[in-house]
Amino acid sequence: MHKPHVPAEPIIIIGAGHGGVSVAAGLRTQGWEGRILLIDGDSRLPYERPPLSKELLKPGSPEHVTPLRRAGYYEERGIETVLGLDVRQIDVENRSVTLSDGSIRAYYRLVIATGSTARALRIPGGDLPGVQTLKTFDDATRLRGQLTAGARAVIVGAGYIGLEVAAAAAALGCDVTVLEFQDRVMSRVTSEPVSRFFEQHHENHGVRFVFGAAVTAVEGDGRAERVLTADGESYPADVVIAGIGVVPNQQLAEAAGLECNDGILVDEHGRTSHPAVYAAGDVTRFTSPFDGSSLRLECIQNAQAQADSVVHHIMEKPRKDADIPWFWTVQHGVRLQTAGVRHPDDDAIVRGAVEDKKFSVVYLRGGKVSAVDTIDSLKDFMAAKKLIAAGAAVDPVLASVPGTPLAEAAI
Ligand code: NAI
Repeated sequence: MHKPHVPAEPIIIIGAGHGGVSVAAGLRTQGWEGRILLIDGDSRLPYERPPLSKELLKPGSPEHVTPLRRAGYYEERGIETVLGLDVRQIDVENRSVTLSDGSIRAYYRLVIATGSTARALRIPGGDLPGVQTLKTFDDATRLRGQLTAGARAVIVGAGYIGLEVAAAAAALGCDVTVLEFQDRVMSRVTSEPVSRFFEQHHENHGVRFVFGAAVTAVEGDGRAERVLTADGESYPADVVIAGIGVVPNQQLAEAAGLECNDGILVDEHGRTSHPAVYAAGDVTRFTSPFDGSSLRLECIQNAQAQADSVVHHIMEKPRKDADIPWFWTVQHGVRLQTAGVRHPDDDAIVRGAVEDKKFSVVYLRGGKVSAVDTIDSLKDFMAAKKLIAAGAAVDPVLASVPGTPLAEAAI
């Protein structure tokens, strides 16, 4: 059997989020015998992010971090960690990184898994105390302290973060207003029927929406007190949350001369434009193996799948077929699960009754299933994933009959 040589230098992984930790864990699982060094600027044990906008903001929930792997895991597997120091520079010529304490570490292979940062509200007053984003455990605990009963929460952006925070804030007794510049919620990721369902669902829980809202300024005396919009409206606020998307943390890669374009460019193996440097997760941009489109995917599944590709390539093992990307969000107890990546002009077939909170929307591109959104319809989610992977077409009329299993609508 082919046995890769064991180099003296470690594989260095920058970023201990889902992508970075998956690379470290995957290397050991696959039998990598060399050194592994995992570096992250956060001094905490690497942790899960989904609970930050969900469980952690629930009434009565304890403020604790959910580690990705238990304490002891890294040491037991011989994964060296440097937590609490940033990487300041990558030198691809000399294959080394410089840390914020000035030390230089040489690598055999480098994996950049630096993730993304919440986009800041770049308007006058957007940096006042009381305006915040939600990305880290510290952000979540700070926000939790501000979402007290009766507090006026003004949320900018009706995407995943904005809506999960809106649901949590409403449950904590806040007065919640969401300002969104598009004409519906989650317009980036879903279709009109799903957007309207969630809009209504939030309104039933007391959340107010303002669509077409162009936020121009945050004002207040040393602290956010109101949010202004271009139409002259003013929204009083005790706390302002910006959930207006993320930007990839590609600065280190760019400065090192790696090719980037709203994300570090990688191939199907996670290789960057330098042969000894890989990248995985939110920070990457790649070509979809399913439809050839250029993608930057912000989801755990993608981080783990890319991590797996990187591990296999470093270890010179054949990689598995690409996985279908999937996403989920929970808002006021209703779970939306999405598989595949929908394009805005895909055809949409609604299955089931929206009013029963149990339905799915199947998206078709050129007759083939491209994506699915499901609400309380796990069977459709599983079936659609298979159909997307197979590049299968379905009969749109048959597929719209909820009693017919989706797989039986395949043609
Ligand atoms: P997003 O891209 O999902 O939504 C941003 C929303 O803000 C969009 O609806 C956009 O139209 C709106 N927007 C942008 N600029 C605006 C402005 N100036 N004024 C008003 N509205 C504006 O991004 P979001 O919600 O910040 O989430 C960021 C990332 O967090 C996700 O992409 C994902 O990586 C992660 N996340 C994922 C979750 C999940 O999968 N369930 C849950 C929470 C976060």
